[in-house]
Amino acid sequence: MGATELVYLDHNATTPLCEEAWEAMVPFFRENWANPSSGYRFARRAREAVERARAQVAGLLGVTPEEIVFTSGGTESTHAAVHSAVALHPDRRHVVTCATEHDATLRTCEALVARGYEVTVLPVDAGGRLDLGAYRESLRPGRTACVSLMWANNETGLVHPVAEAAALAHECGILFHTDAVQAAGKVPLDLAGLRVHYASLSAHKLHGPKGVGVLYVNRGARFQATQLGGGQEGGRRSGTLNVPGIVGMGAAAEAARRHLEADRGALAARRDRFERDLAQRVSGMHVHAAGAPRLPNTSNFRMDGVDAQGAILLLDTRGVCVSSGSACATGSIKPSHVLTAMGLSSRPARETLRVSLARTTTDEEIDVAVEALTAAVGKLRVARP
Ligand SMILES: Cc1ncc(COP(=O)(O)O)c(C=O)c1O
Repeated sequence: MGATELVYLDHNATTPLCEEAWEAMVPFFRENWANPSSGYRFARRAREAVERARAQVAGLLGVTPEEIVFTSGGTESTHAAVHSAVALHPDRRHVVTCATEHDATLRTCEALVARGYEVTVLPVDAGGRLDLGAYRESLRPGRTACVSLMWANNETGLVHPVAEAAALAHECGILFHTDAVQAAGKVPLDLAGLRVHYASLSAHKLHGPKGVGVLYVNRGARFQATQLGGGQEGGRRSGTLNVPGIVGMGAAAEAARRHLEADRGALAARRDRFERDLAQRVSGMHVHAAGAPRLPNTSNFRMDGVDAQGAILLLDTRGVCVSSGSACATGSIKPSHVLTAMGLSSRPARETLRVSLARTTTDEEIDVAVEALTAAVGKLRVARP
């Protein structure tokens, strides 16, 4: 099946490359394939392109280019940030995070527990919200090495109060990292005005290429690198730079910055129409995190008595791509840890679907998805024993 026949509504998983990124990348595969660290003139174009990309990403975040470190993606950035924070404070053996974080954060924290750290995993309410009072209580001045709190959740789209959480951590002298992978390009991230020390980004979530990301390191924050070697990126991340990827990320960030304001309103309107139209056609539809601040592109919902895996298969036969709130783990269906943390039992979690839009999503695609979902619900509810 070609991409043109698809109704792709899974943009929180990954996004198609935008034209700007593709155009910017091609010359760095074909003609300008030099290692940007080399000393001869042939390498200068690559070096300049990397610096342009650094400025473009900095522009999206409202920070300075020196604060941008290129990595291989969101997972590496988060790993580097948390490990930097604990390495900088060897006497502090406590870390704070949240139950609905991405596995990149949760697995990194688990590895710390195995090394004898104490990790406070803060709960969320039924809407996916963090209790800021409980968060404040969890901070231990002089003993907590860092907080890692995602800006926006990849499944529900819930947006955490990162500005407030970062300020509270700052008051306690604690390093603050935010996984902004899903937020970047969808909501404004004016990091310069916040007490955020580290932030993770991933190019492929904002119409850039896969396998490239950014770690923002606030210029006032110390940083201890985990990936050592040739000393690239000012010693903050060694390894030969992925020039085409970085250039693509820069162009995608620049395009996201240009489109951001218009996209936000249009995305939210389309997402809301999707939810309204589906609720009119299908009884027993419940939108998760509906009353909380949400990313404008994300809808996470369940439909009573409709198995999400079955719905995904039926939608797939019509070329409609969405994802579910559960994953197949060693032969059994495991509900997502995000929904479980929000108090959903395994059955409603297995009835949960995620639809995530992008600026390329059209009204017609929304209509096709609503139609396909309505038909799938008809079949699956009849088929239910
Ligand atoms: C919230 C969040 N954090 C981190 C990641 C990991 O990013 P990457 O795929 O670039 O490693 C993802 C990707 O799914 C994500 O959604």
